[in-house]
Amino acid sequence: MNSIGVIGAGQMGAGIAQVSAAAGYHVFLADISQEVADKAKVDIEKRLNRLVEKDKLEKQAAETALGRIEPLSSFEKMATAGLVIEAATEREEVKRTIFTEVGKILGHKAVLASNTSSIPITRLAQASPDPARFIGVHFFNPVPVMDLIEVIRGLATSDETVEIVRGYGKALGKQMVFANDAPGFIVNRVLMPMLNEACFALGEGVASIEDIDAACRLGLNHPMGPLTLADFIGLDTCLEIVNVLFASTGDPKFRPAPLLVKYVEAGWYGRKSGRGFYDYSGEVPRPTR
Ligand code: CAA
Repeated sequence: MNSIGVIGAGQMGAGIAQVSAAAGYHVFLADISQEVADKAKVDIEKRLNRLVEKDKLEKQAAETALGRIEPLSSFEKMATAGLVIEAATEREEVKRTIFTEVGKILGHKAVLASNTSSIPITRLAQASPDPARFIGVHFFNPVPVMDLIEVIRGLATSDETVEIVRGYGKALGKQMVFANDAPGFIVNRVLMPMLNEACFALGEGVASIEDIDAACRLGLNHPMGPLTLADFIGLDTCLEIVNVLFASTGDPKFRPAPLLVKYVEAGWYGRKSGRGFYDYSGEVPRPTR
């Protein structure tokens, strides 16, 4: 496999493109407009340059990796890719539309993967041209830093498809874990109830934003407190995942915290919108309540 396609040039898609190009793959990186895809490449260039400045990457290697990334606004060129990874918004109808479109040009042996955080792979596979060649490949943010890929097999996913993804993950130098197609897979099944509970605790006045975060950072040795992490992931994404867990299990333990819902309704999505539990307009994030 020489080339891969990445659909969606947001923080996850751009990260996947970066690590794939660094591992030697030619990367077709597509988004809804050429401008968005080009901007993602500019951001990747900045991140690669930072690695060069820190002596973590040779200048030549950074330039070669960048040269392998081809930003696009359509899917046609992905017909030659051995693996196409969708990393678009965490909304099922958006992903289904993408699979139908890319399915029209996907190579006969190519694998189609979704970076979904929680939507069932077996269900998404129904919108793909061949469910045997459909699989979940879940990366973690920031992709260049986080060592894990969660691989999720749908009911119809073939052994051959799993092996293609195993080879790809190995080439990237990532550690892989294999999960069954259950709501939230492994990481989000465990993580999202914690982030959601932190929102309940804040809403109930148990402690301040800073103290909830400090408690988990210092008391549990987590690199980020839960409210900082929720802002980092995006509160809209967190809510989408919690809603999937709640809807697909019917278990009230997964009901979304009213405060999380309210923040998303206010458009306070966290770091990416400039405000969530923290305000990111200044040099240092400040708690908002
Ligand atoms: N992109 C690329 N590299 C980044 C980065 C980014 N957005 N942010 C930080 N880094 C790099 C830094 O360059 C630095 O690299 P070096 O050590 O090589 O210099 C390294 O990460 C550490 O960064 P910092 O020293 O600036 O900051 P830190 O020590 O606080 O670490 C962190 C930052 C790695 C993000 C750390 O806070 C962390 O691990 N946080 C938890 C992240 C996490 O849980 N991610 C998973 C979220 S869940 C998910 O993604 C899936 C889902 O479905 C929701």
